[in-house]
Amino acid sequence: MNLFQDKIKQLSHPPLPKRGKEEIKVLVDQLMDKMTLREKIGQLYQAAPEDAHIEGLHFDDSHATAQSIKEGLCGSILGIHTPENAYQLQKIAVEESRLGIPLFFGLDIIHGCRTTFPINLAMSCSFDPERIEEASRIAAKESAHTGINLTFSPMVDVVRDPRWGRVMESNGEDSYLSRILGRAYIRGYQQGDLSDNTSIGACVKHFAGYGAVEAGREYNTVDMSDRHLRMYHLPAYKSCVDEDCAGVMASFNVINGVPASCNRYLLTDILRNEWQYKGFVISDYTSTFEIMNHKITTDKKEVAKLCLHAGLDHEMVSTHYITYLEELVKENEVSVQTIEKSCRRILTFKYQLGLFDNPYKNIYDDPEQYMRLPEYRKAALEMAKRSIVLLKNDNQVLPLSRDKKIALIGPAAKTNHVVGGWGGLGRIEECISFSTGMENHGYQIAAHEGCSFEGSDNDGRLMEEAYQLAQDSDVILLAIGEPDSLTGEASSRSALGLTGRQLELAEKLKKLNKPMIGVIFTGRPLDLSWCAVHLDGLILGWYLGNETGNALASVISGEYNPSGRLTISFPRNVGQIPVYYNQLPTGRPSSTGGPGDLFKSCYTDIPNSPLYPFGYGLSYTTFAYSNLSLSTDCITGEEEAVISADITNTGNYPGKIISQLFIEALSFSVSRPVKEFKGFCHTDLEAGETKTVQFAITRDTLSYLNINNEMTPENRTYKIYVGSDSTTKNYLLLKYELSEVPKTNL
Ligand code: GLC
Repeated sequence: MNLFQDKIKQLSHPPLPKRGKEEIKVLVDQLMDKMTLREKIGQLYQAAPEDAHIEGLHFDDSHATAQSIKEGLCGSILGIHTPENAYQLQKIAVEESRLGIPLFFGLDIIHGCRTTFPINLAMSCSFDPERIEEASRIAAKESAHTGINLTFSPMVDVVRDPRWGRVMESNGEDSYLSRILGRAYIRGYQQGDLSDNTSIGACVKHFAGYGAVEAGREYNTVDMSDRHLRMYHLPAYKSCVDEDCAGVMASFNVINGVPASCNRYLLTDILRNEWQYKGFVISDYTSTFEIMNHKITTDKKEVAKLCLHAGLDHEMVSTHYITYLEELVKENEVSVQTIEKSCRRILTFKYQLGLFDNPYKNIYDDPEQYMRLPEYRKAALEMAKRSIVLLKNDNQVLPLSRDKKIALIGPAAKTNHVVGGWGGLGRIEECISFSTGMENHGYQIAAHEGCSFEGSDNDGRLMEEAYQLAQDSDVILLAIGEPDSLTGEASSRSALGLTGRQLELAEKLKKLNKPMIGVIFTGRPLDLSWCAVHLDGLILGWYLGNETGNALASVISGEYNPSGRLTISFPRNVGQIPVYYNQLPTGRPSSTGGPGDLFKSCYTDIPNSPLYPFGYGLSYTTFAYSNLSLSTDCITGEEEAVISADITNTGNYPGKIISQLFIEALSFSVSRPVKEFKGFCHTDLEAGETKTVQFAITRDTLSYLNINNEMTPENRTYKIYVGSDSTTKNYLLLKYELSEVPKTNL
């Protein structure tokens, strides 16, 4: 029995007053008038008590965190996993520090808390902001009953390099989509009212441009033109700022030579002056300390000065602020006002959360009753189904009838390690494995590991066993890919093949000449070139979280007709990286796309096109577009054109199609991509049914950063495409005429 159990039992959780900006400002001013400089500095520190657990009945009092909290030298905590932990530390803050200022608790709730949803890259393939908002709301409701007040999510880094393990947390390669989905995450977490007992703050990351690390190598350099930064990377963070995210996290990387944690151009010029952001900026884990590794300084005290002056409000784990700021003020190197600005932002967030009204608002004695509710697991299942992408289905080998004898073979066949990186408080034992899901759906399967993910001495024997087992099957279902341990932070790979001896296993089983379907478990685009040629069916299963097996079986059985669409290109091989849909035309575009289109921009050995392009995905049915029409062939000023298309389900299955809108400027004052993604919509169609889809085209749709760095359309002609992926050729032409600025008759 835990010492605090009865105390936590006595806690109440009344609805909290939602205080307005002005009221909070007054309260913060009043509190700050009472605070010493040291206490103001204390609010700028986030501790991560490594051993923040209850040993026996007593918190380890010698632990630095408890002491710093008592002295008012800690503003927040990272990494608390249980209500008891949170209660114990909050009790110290509220009852033992001089002013009783409550802590806030942050944790990485990235794709679910206890109910684990598919990895974010998988969810982005649903193109479903409403369901992503729902997933985030569920994550908030669970998190808010475990003591968590802030999640370090959404991650909206735009990623074109799948060697980077963190691509799994992203929304893929497109900036427009990342803008839309980033906002959906924030709406779900914050629910428009941080004082709500089931809301948590959202902290967008990694500001900025972390998805463009060179060579996909973790923590590596980011260097790009300001134009590229503003055109492709900043918009997604900006959209999160516009959605009132509580926090922004500075990234590990340099951006154009200056580490984000001390990059005034990013944290003040852009974030504060251009975007008018009012929330707080937090560093990444020890990223302040790491500016010395970036060789910006060799002096720890200067680290504190540089980061604070750049606009960093809250230092995660490193202690430069609480160690040196007081001294820097005495030396007139840092002003009290600068410190107070950051302190104000942290206190404001705490008032917004309602922590001064109830510091224990998110602490419950029996959180289990709020976890994994049936409706949460149903939502996770529905999202998982919609995250699955059908890549190949030759001869309609799918869906699989239940009378087939299935050999389910591969390292992902029986494992319930199916959450992927950043699994929050998810529990492996609560995950439905692929084999269990298939059995739940009435399939008769013989499951075998076939080989390990990583490669082991047993693999030869395992492969032989699997081969024997598969002899007596009608169809072989491969469960292969990369292990979930290779997804997420610190998981960059130099190669993108199936890991270990999985390819050898697949080739061996291929010799049985039976229908073979691959289900790919992965946190990133892998090199599926062998699978694309030699398998009859290919399903991208990602890492789907709790409901993995049920979602896969629902798609394999045809109960759910797959509707997922790729939000990131799949390269033919690692040498093709970066490959993405919105490339520039180059001065020598290859009409064939290669290979071997001499003296044109292409390779001699592979086509320019990816194996699978942005927006691609198959269905058990087929769809056809027709009657493309534009409401006008020219717009000006704020006018809008509407492009319409009829879409028909030409197959035998009801299904969902995600229509996509692209534009292409035939010319512009700077070179613009061959396609630009600008919208999408879902259409559910019965077999044989036709519906009309429409998209509005406005000046914003056509805008781009022009030669003068103005975001605007130009007097040009544009192709307007509507189709089912980024290779669509269905377009109509639309002119835009810049309306002359009316001449005033002075
Ligand atoms: C990690 C990650 C960041 C995460 C933070 C706190 O190193 O870069 O995404 O939110 O530390 O766990």
